[in-house]
Amino acid sequence: MTAGRLFEVHTVVKGETTIDAERNRLWWERMPMSYADWQAADREPRTEEDFLAIEDYLLARSPFLTDLFKSRNFAGLRMLDLGCGVGVLSCLLSRLGADVTAMDLTQHAVDLTARNSHLRNLTVQPVRTDAENMGLASASFDFVLSWGVIHHTPSTERALAEIARILKPGGRALIMVYHTTSIVYYLRGLYWLLARGKIFHGYNLRTVQDFCADGFYHRHFTGPELTGCVEAVGLRPTRVTATQQDAPILPFLPVALDRYLKEKFGWYLVCEFERPR
Ligand SMILES: C[S@@+](CC[C@H](N)C(=O)[O-])C[C@H]1O[C@@H](n2cnc3c(N)ncnc32)[C@H](O)[C@@H]1O
Repeated sequence: MTAGRLFEVHTVVKGETTIDAERNRLWWERMPMSYADWQAADREPRTEEDFLAIEDYLLARSPFLTDLFKSRNFAGLRMLDLGCGVGVLSCLLSRLGADVTAMDLTQHAVDLTARNSHLRNLTVQPVRTDAENMGLASASFDFVLSWGVIHHTPSTERALAEIARILKPGGRALIMVYHTTSIVYYLRGLYWLLARGKIFHGYNLRTVQDFCADGFYHRHFTGPELTGCVEAVGLRPTRVTATQQDAPILPFLPVALDRYLKEKFGWYLVCEFERPR
């Protein structure tokens, strides 16, 4: 991700109007999650090779996801990929035998997901709707996977309440959001505050994240904050862990220390939870 470009996008959008859900949608309509550089002139995957390259890129850099897909049996489960982006995880789940609904706020993401699954002969049901008001049937999913999504919506709490509603009793979910207690949050935030002088324009460590995180909204959570939100809607957290993509968390670290630091202070906070029976 490139902070300079994100900064431009933010100032253009935020300078125009107030922050609301529509601005969130417009941000992502314009910048679908294709894993291309945010500055690239053409970020659109088109061919089967393009989509496969995105899957390879994501899995190669995300040991947490690789382990998840190796260690769990998703076959036969009715699954929701909440905030599907270009459908990379939806297609993986479909290939593993899950019955997948892929939902996203943007038409752009839904169209790319439909194209991705069609080109690869996979069955995925794409739906355009809002995580905060899904309109999907209550108690209808065995598993909700949401990777890097509900911290980008105006109310993470409303999205969690919707997940609680659509999960079957005993159903499970795994969500990833940004982590406050992370090296990335502090290092990038301090860089923009001090080296780029944002502190002199009234920014603090939380608000300066506008310059270094993607999406129109990008709320960060501590572990206790996130589990508190999960419990508040009647869901039961079963595991909370941190992770990060595979580039070293800091330069010149031994592998074991890098792994330890990512599990404690990685930028991605993963919470698994279930709906009690
Ligand atoms: C960082 S991308 C992650 C995409 C995908 N999960 C992945 O890992 O590649 C965030 C996605 O969330 C979607 N999104 C943001 N707010 C949403 C909302 N309120 N409801 C549904 N999707 C939303 C965006 O359109 C975007 O596709």
